[in-house]
Amino acid sequence: MHTGEQYHQFFLTSPPDRAVRDRFQNLVLDLLPEGADVLDFGAGTGIDAKAYAARGHLTFVYEPSESMRAHLTHYCHDEITSKTIVSVPSPLACRVQAVTANFAVLNHFADHTLLFEEMSRVVQPGGFVLASMLNPYYLGDARYGWWRSNIINLLLKGRYAIASESRIHRFRPRVVARAAAPHFRLERLIPHGFGLATDLYMFLLFRRI
Ligand SMILES: C[S@@+](CC[C@H](N)C(=O)[O-])C[C@H]1O[C@@H](n2cnc3c(N)ncnc32)[C@H](O)[C@@H]1O
Repeated sequence: MHTGEQYHQFFLTSPPDRAVRDRFQNLVLDLLPEGADVLDFGAGTGIDAKAYAARGHLTFVYEPSESMRAHLTHYCHDEITSKTIVSVPSPLACRVQAVTANFAVLNHFADHTLLFEEMSRVVQPGGFVLASMLNPYYLGDARYGWWRSNIINLLLKGRYAIASESRIHRFRPRVVARAAAPHFRLERLIPHGFGLATDLYMFLLFRRI
C-alpha cells in the first residue's frame, strides 16, 4: 500500500507517468473556459489541482484516502490558505463546469451508473467530465496471465476485475458510456483505433447533456 508521500514522489519522478499527466492536464486546460471552476475527483496528492489553480481555476478536491489527503494538504498548503483549492467532504458539495478524474480513479468503481447520476448534479449543463482510465486493450499487458485469461470477459461482458489488484476494474469505453447516459454523452475517446493497443491509459471525455 502506498502512503500519500510515496505515491507523490513516484508519480512526480516517473517520466512515462509525467508525460501522460502533462497530456491530461493540457487537455483539461484547453477545454476549460477561462475562470471556470473544476472538481478534481479522487485528487490524490493534489498534483493536478495545483496546476489548475495556478491557471486561475477555483479547484475543488475530493479525495477519500486519508493518507493522500494529508499529503495534498501539505503540497497545496498555499492554495488551500488562499482558498484557490477547496477540499470538499463530498462531490455534491460543489457545482462546477468540469470534473476531472486522472489516473484510474474510475477503475476503483465496479459500475459507474450512480457515480454519473451524482456527477449530473455537480456538473453544469454543457460542462464535462474527463477521466483517464486503464485501457483494457493495451497490448503491453498481454504478458500477464490475468490479461489473457480475461480477454473473453472483456469481449463478452465488456468488463472484468482482478482480486489481486485491489479490485481494480477494467472496462470497454462503451460500457462506461452506457453508464453515463442519459446525463452525459461520450464526446471523445483518446486514443482510438490502433492507438488503443499501445497506450496504457485512455482518456474519456463526457459532455453534460
Ligand atoms: C492512482 S490514484 C490517482 C490520484 C490523482 N487523481 C492523480 O492523478 O495523481 C487513484 C485515486 O483514486 C482515489 N479513489 C479510490 N476510490 C475512490 C472513490 N470511490 N471515489 C473517489 N476517489 C477514489 C484513491 O484514493 C486515489 O487517490
